[in-house]
Amino acid sequence: MSAPAAGAQTVVVTGAARGIGAAIATRMAADGARVVVSDRDGDELRELAARIGAHPVVADIASDGGVQQLVDAALETLGRIDVFFANAGIALGTGLSDTDDGHWATILDINVLAHVRAARALESVWEKQGGGRFVVTASAAGLLTILDDPSYAVTKHAAVAFAEWLSVTYRHRGVVVQAICPQGVQTRMLEASGELEELLSHDQALPPERVADAVATALTTEDFYILPHPEVAGYAALRSAEPDRWLAGMNKLQRKLEDARATRDGG
Ligand SMILES: NC(=O)c1ccc[n+]([C@@H]2O[C@H](COP(=O)([O-])OP(=O)(O)OC[C@H]3O[C@@H](n4cnc5c(N)ncnc54)[C@H](O)[C@@H]3O)[C@@H](O)[C@H]2O)c1
Repeated sequence: MSAPAAGAQTVVVTGAARGIGAAIATRMAADGARVVVSDRDGDELRELAARIGAHPVVADIASDGGVQQLVDAALETLGRIDVFFANAGIALGTGLSDTDDGHWATILDINVLAHVRAARALESVWEKQGGGRFVVTASAAGLLTILDDPSYAVTKHAAVAFAEWLSVTYRHRGVVVQAICPQGVQTRMLEASGELEELLSHDQALPPERVADAVATALTTEDFYILPHPEVAGYAALRSAEPDRWLAGMNKLQRKLEDARATRDGG
């Protein structure tokens, strides 16, 4: 399916109250799309919607009912859904021994199952429309890994895996699936990652508008990966070609992080 011009598009963005979702929604609206923005945080969402001329739908994508409510409201407002940005996500920032099964269930629910719910709700819409576009905000952590935060690494890998499966399954029915895989982006999520942000990603963290630029360009293509940090392609190639060298390199970074903590703590 060739991509229609953004001005002809109807777009839904989850997790749009702030951060990357707000930047994508703002860019889509500026490019002429009709936009439904959604988030569980109603106050920030309504402010953003008023600012960019979008329609707000307050919904929690951690439940099947919330996702269906969003898709129904979006169809009612827009008539069709050309692009669905499954963007909302969380990071718990907890190490292995700090996570119990409840933590894992919570993050799987939002970072993985919300995408499954959205695709399930959109299946009949895609069939009726003859296609659509489904863009998952995964992460470079879903192609590589992330230090310190096992549940984020695992759920983002699962988000990429689900997007791959969707692409394989629906491509010939006109559904374009894409996965946004940034490294650090200057949002509240990155701020909350604290010292990891300071030590490893501060210099290369992009403003969310740069992610939105990469997304706008990618909407004119059917490329699966959207990589706002182009160097991620090289890291992923190394991981795939030389897994042991890549793992050793990541372990070196882990040791750097531990040394920096020891220095900070006077150890
Ligand atoms: N910031 C980064 O460095 C970075 C890097 C790579 C990928 N990402 C991914 O980008 C996406 C957006 O993150 P961000 O950095 O903009 O974070 P953010 O915390 O600024 O924004 C996330 C938004 O999602 C919403 N949200 C969370 N759970 C929800 C739920 N159950 N229902 C509805 N809305 C919910 C929040 O209210 C918030 O508005 C996430 O999937 C994140 O994992 C972020």
